[in-house]
Amino acid sequence: MLLSNQVALVWMLLQLCISNVHSKLSEVIRRVFSAWMGVNRGQVNSQPKRPKLSSTARGEVTTPSSVNYHFTRQCNYKCGFCFHTAKTSFVLPIDEAKRGLRLMKEAGMEKINFSGGEPFLHQKGVFLGELVQYCKQELQLPSVSIVSNGSMIRETWFQKYGEYLDILAVSCDSFDEETNQVIGRAQGRKSHIDNLYKVRNWCKEYRVAFKINSVINTFNVHEDMTEHIRGLNPVRWKVFQCLLIEGENTGKDSLREAEKFIITDQEFQDFLDRHQSINCLVPESNQKMKDSYLILDEYMRFLDCRAGRKDPSKSILDVGVEEAIKFSGFDERMFLKRGGKYVWSKAEMKLEW
Ligand SMILES: C[S@@+](CC[C@H](N)C(=O)[O-])C[C@H]1O[C@@H](n2cnc3c(N)ncnc32)[C@H](O)[C@@H]1O
Ligand code: SF4
Repeated sequence: MLLSNQVALVWMLLQLCISNVHSKLSEVIRRVFSAWMGVNRGQVNSQPKRPKLSSTARGEVTTPSSVNYHFTRQCNYKCGFCFHTAKTSFVLPIDEAKRGLRLMKEAGMEKINFSGGEPFLHQKGVFLGELVQYCKQELQLPSVSIVSNGSMIRETWFQKYGEYLDILAVSCDSFDEETNQVIGRAQGRKSHIDNLYKVRNWCKEYRVAFKINSVINTFNVHEDMTEHIRGLNPVRWKVFQCLLIEGENTGKDSLREAEKFIITDQEFQDFLDRHQSINCLVPESNQKMKDSYLILDEYMRFLDCRAGRKDPSKSILDVGVEEAIKFSGFDERMFLKRGGKYVWSKAEMKLEW
């Protein structure tokens, strides 16, 4: 009797052990499994809500929230470092350009930036104005902006289209007229700087946020622009390190030879240090610029700059945004890292008018 009780006790203990080991094992398996599921769920859920998903060649999901449309390659200036040169004279018919912009909006575009070439050159700014108005009025985009050399803008343009424009960026690389001549940032002997101040005053009058872009290169790298930038008081001062692009400003078939404009990372850093008191300064080294822009060319093809040249996708007008964007080379993380997302609608800016 005693013996059979002992056997029963041992048997029970053994069962307990086995079930313990079993449940521990189950727990381990459950945890490993749920951790694995969690990671995978996390990968999907960590993406913010998007209107429509597209994926790049890397297979990453991306949204074309901010897009640069270089609708013309023609320009009235001859900047020696220019990386978007007059390789064609093509411009889409306006209805096709509008159709493409609508496709971009449907794919999630919130900000459009019109660039070139010089965007105010084609049809004396009317083509640009009509697209600006269309993007704000019809597509209701939160942000519509332009990058221009500023030389061809007239006050009548602001009177007609100013209300539809959020930001106007004017490029100025030097506050020394001779340096602008050496760079080629001029038309004849006309003063680029006087024009910059004139456009800045119109921005104030017609309630458009004013921005400045500067390309730091061999000829302006030692300049101190602090006083002028303070006086002009832009909402944002983008400071680019001069970049080389094969086929544009270096190498075979290029229309420029920009090697002599190139500065080192340290020289660029020294320039930034000299201007560190300016709060609106946004620096863009070659590293940061690389792959962080979604660029549409004059045919509405995405331009992939990953190989150091501009490789075009098919046109969004032929294959749609989702297919074309796979070949854009766009890196959304780099876009966010360079501060690509900011308060970009003038309605939300605290502008001192
Ligand atoms: C290609 S331009 C077109 C718009 C307009 N023509 C202008 O100059 O502002 C667009 C911007 O790219 C900048 N840019 C041109 N070549 C560059 C280069 N090699 N490296 C960095 N930025 C450059 C220009 O200064 C300008 O701010
Ligand atoms: S960077 Fe100079 S040459 Fe190039 S498009 Fe702008 S103004 Fe024209």
